[in-house]
Parts: sequence; C-alpha cells; structure tokens
Amino acid sequence: MSITISGLTKRFGQTEVLRGIELGVDRGELVALLGPSGSGKTTLLKIIAGLEWPDAGRLSVEGEDWLQLAAQDRRIGFVFQHYALFPHMRVRDNIGFGLSVRPRAARPGKAAIAAKVDELLHFLQIAHLANRYPTQLSGGQRQRVALGRALAIEPRVLLLDEPFGALDAAIRRDLRRWLRGVHDATGSTTIFVTHDQEEAFELADRVVVMGAGRIEQIGHADAIHDHPASPFVARFMGATVELPVTLHAGRAEGAGLDLSALPRRALPDGAANLFVRPQDITPIPDAAAPWRIASRSSTGAHLRLVVRAPDGAEAEADLPRRAVNAEALDPGAPVRLRIEAGTIFPAERRAALPVVTPISLKLESSR
Ligand SMILES: Nc1ncnc2c1ncn2[C@@H]1O[C@H](COP(=O)(O)OP(=O)(O)O)[C@@H](O)[C@H]1O
Ligand SMILES: [Mg+2]
Repeated sequence: MSITISGLTKRFGQTEVLRGIELGVDRGELVALLGPSGSGKTTLLKIIAGLEWPDAGRLSVEGEDWLQLAAQDRRIGFVFQHYALFPHMRVRDNIGFGLSVRPRAARPGKAAIAAKVDELLHFLQIAHLANRYPTQLSGGQRQRVALGRALAIEPRVLLLDEPFGALDAAIRRDLRRWLRGVHDATGSTTIFVTHDQEEAFELADRVVVMGAGRIEQIGHADAIHDHPASPFVARFMGATVELPVTLHAGRAEGAGLDLSALPRRALPDGAANLFVRPQDITPIPDAAAPWRIASRSSTGAHLRLVVRAPDGAEAEADLPRRAVNAEALDPGAPVRLRIEAGTIFPAERRAALPVVTPISLKLESSR
C-alpha cells in the first residue's frame, strides 16, 4: 500500500512534537525512520496506526483517507521494542491471536487459522518453537513471534518501532537480514523506526532522518553519509567536529587547516562552518602550525588525538594506530590538520537563548 502524509502536525501541550511532516512511501517499500530519542518517530508511527491523532495534516493510504478510519479498520501490523506476548499462550496461539478475535463474520475457522499459523511458523523459521511459552524463548525468538503475530492478519502496512532495540548487537544483525528477507517475500509496505544508523542503512530502501519533529533528509545511505542536508544531519551522522572557516570563491580556508581535498562549493563568501568526522582529520607535524596535540589515547586499533587551537577550540582526530609515526604526535607537538572530507554550511545564526519571553513565544506560534 502506498502511504502519503502531508502537513502533519502534533502537539502535546506546549511541545510541538511533529512540525509539518511530508512523506510518501511506495507500495512494497521498506522505509526507516532514523533519529535521536524524542524526535517524534513513535508519535508518527502511532498516528499511522490510529493510536494517536494529529492536530492537522493528511494521511492517506492508496488514496483512502485514513484519518477517517479507526485503528481496527486500518489493518496495521505493529511490533514494538518490548512486545508483550501473551505469557499464558503458546507461540502458535500468540501468532493466531489476531485472527481468533475477529468478529464472527470475518473470523476464519479453527482449521484455517491453524493452517495460517503453520504457514507463518515455517516462513519465519520458528516451527520448532510452536508449542513453547514466551518465557521459554530468547529475546530474538520473541521478536520473531511478535512479527508472526503482526503478519497473521495480513496487514496492509507493517509498522515496527525499534523492534530489536533491546537485543544484543550480533542478534540484531541476524534479525535485520531475516526481516529484510521476510519483507521482500511478503511484499508488504513497511516503516521501521530505529535510532541506529547502521540498522537503518542496512535494512531500508530509503532512510528518513528525523530531528525535533521535522524530516531533515530523505535518501539512500551514501547520500546521507556523504552529503548531509543540514548541520543536524551532519552531526547525527558522526561529523562531530565543527571548524570555523572562511569561504573565498567557493574555497574554504582556516588557520592551520589543509583543506585542499575538499571540492569547491557554490556558497557565498564569508564565515562558514566545516563539519568533519574525527576519522577524516589527519594531524600532520608542522612546526609553523597553530594546533597542538592536547592528549592522546588508544583504543587498540585506533589512536584518538585531541588537538587544540590557540583560542582553546578543540578537535578530535581518530587515526589507525599502525599508520601513525607515534613520537611526532606526542602531547604538545605542533600540527596542522589535513581534512580528508567534510561538509560546509554557512555559519548558523547563534541559537536563541533558552529564555521564553512572551514576545518570542508569540513569534513561535505565529509561524
Ligand atoms: N502522550 C504524550 N504526552 C506528552 N508528550 C509526549 C507523549 N508522547 C510523546 N511525547 C513527547 O513527544 C516527543 C516525541 O516523542 P516520541 O514520538 O516518542 O519520540 P521518539 O520515538 O523519536 O523517541 C518527546 O518529547 C516526548 O516526550
Ligand atoms: Mg520512540
């Protein structure tokens, strides 16, 4: 089912949790909503499910206005991070639950439900667990059962809210591949919420990056990684070092910075900020340069250096330990910074002070 969302807003009291969401999801697509905690991912998912209602905006599925439909009429499969399976029911009864509680007219017979459950048990590779109770399952097995329960009703849209969030990294990776296989085989339209970049990028056809109730960028892994659309996305994608630079004819310059590897940018002359990942910064010993090594530590494979400018500004550099001529990068050593890759944005205006005056409140709400 194709999903079209436009102008969706939602407030809880004074908090604007969704600020004008525009999103289209194609039939059969798997889209990941990626963003930090509190960015509004769950709220958006709940609105699609019919468990929350927006203040304004539209939500349609295959052209049908879903805001006119109650949750039970939308035929959504929903899996949460901590999905409570019914503890007193065996796996097969948990999976069949959604079918067995349908109104009598729409309810399949006992044999039909059993056949459907068997089919899902095999499809999801959990047939050997059919007669166990939830307490006899591992976390990963429980999430497979939870997905089975969501799929049993043949949902029109599958919504997954951090379904693997509570599991170990290795199990999550396994489940991710398994889920991608399940998605491809069912052809369902799926929205998957996560705050884990690797999970989003490995799993999804497209990634929707959310920050503070807004969609910041929609795209494929490489584009979001290499060309973040905003300072927010740059930071969220690991470009945690911000260096003030000056632009002249599309070229960035900064004291003690070697920026020759950066492509020319179509940005106006003047002050700008360069966002860089620590692993894209190479300190090079240079007696004439203004940066000094402030500290160094090792993670085994990598050397992490903190460098400091005369004005006190600090940057973190992360280099493979084997590649480093260690003595030349001892604390106190002067270095210039070669920037291998980074993204430039015009200097942001200073963020407003976090003091709420009646005037700024009025400006906020009139936007
Ligand atoms: N029922 C609610 N009442 C009040 N505030 C809420 C409610 N649900 C969520 N929020 C707030 O909305 C914001 C977004 O929450 P949520 O959608 O859960 O974000 P995410 O899933 O990205 O972590 C948070 O600031 C959260 O505290
Ligand atoms: Mg959430």
